[in-house]
Amino acid sequence: MISYQKAKVEEAPDIKKLLYKTWTSAYSDIYSQEAIDAVTSEWHSISLLTKQILNPNVSFIVAKSDEKIIGMCNAEFKPKNKLLYIQRLHVDPKFQNRGIGSTLIKKVMGKFPSLIKLKLEVEKQNLKAFYFYQKHGFKKVGTKNFLVKGVRMPSLIMEKLI
Ligand SMILES: CC(C)(COP(=O)(O)OP(=O)(O)OC[C@H]1O[C@@H](n2cnc3c(N)ncnc32)[C@H](O)[C@@H]1OP(=O)(O)O)[C@@H](O)C(=O)NCCC(=O)NCCS
Repeated sequence: MISYQKAKVEEAPDIKKLLYKTWTSAYSDIYSQEAIDAVTSEWHSISLLTKQILNPNVSFIVAKSDEKIIGMCNAEFKPKNKLLYIQRLHVDPKFQNRGIGSTLIKKVMGKFPSLIKLKLEVEKQNLKAFYFYQKHGFKKVGTKNFLVKGVRMPSLIMEKLI
């Protein structure tokens, strides 16, 4: 049975491990291991994850199976335009296609009932995630290039009105 809970600061190292696993699985055909290591070390640092877990404008949810973290999603609410920006959504490959990603999106939305729009960025070649978001009603509204430690990541900006 899968449970969904607010992430705790002491869980940051296990969340980082999950992110490394899902990143390696999703991006090993697209990026070199050096590039994956560089991006994950910056984007998934313990200090950044801790800051986000503690931020009252961030909804940070973990999915657990037998007390082990097997999925996560965090999203930041921008009150000015009632926008919820999904920063990460990751499910352990062994637990994908069981509705956990879909449930995580619903759970992060629950903290900010006044939201009117969802926004996210997805790597251009990550077609599995792109189709997942499209199926959930997100539409491509633009493109963006991330440059992280010398790694260029072409991405699509997607939005969904609630
Ligand atoms: C994208 C991602 C988060 C989706 O998570 P997931 O848990 O597999 O998503 P879901 O199970 O909710 O939905 C996936 C599929 O399962 C189906 N599904 C949904 N609920 C289901 C259920 N209860 N039982 C069986 N299948 C179900 C969905 O219809 C969907 O089908 P589709 O393949 O036809 O689209 C996951 O693939 C992932 O972690 N990828 C790697 C990281 C990544 O790319 N993240 C996004 C970066 S922006």
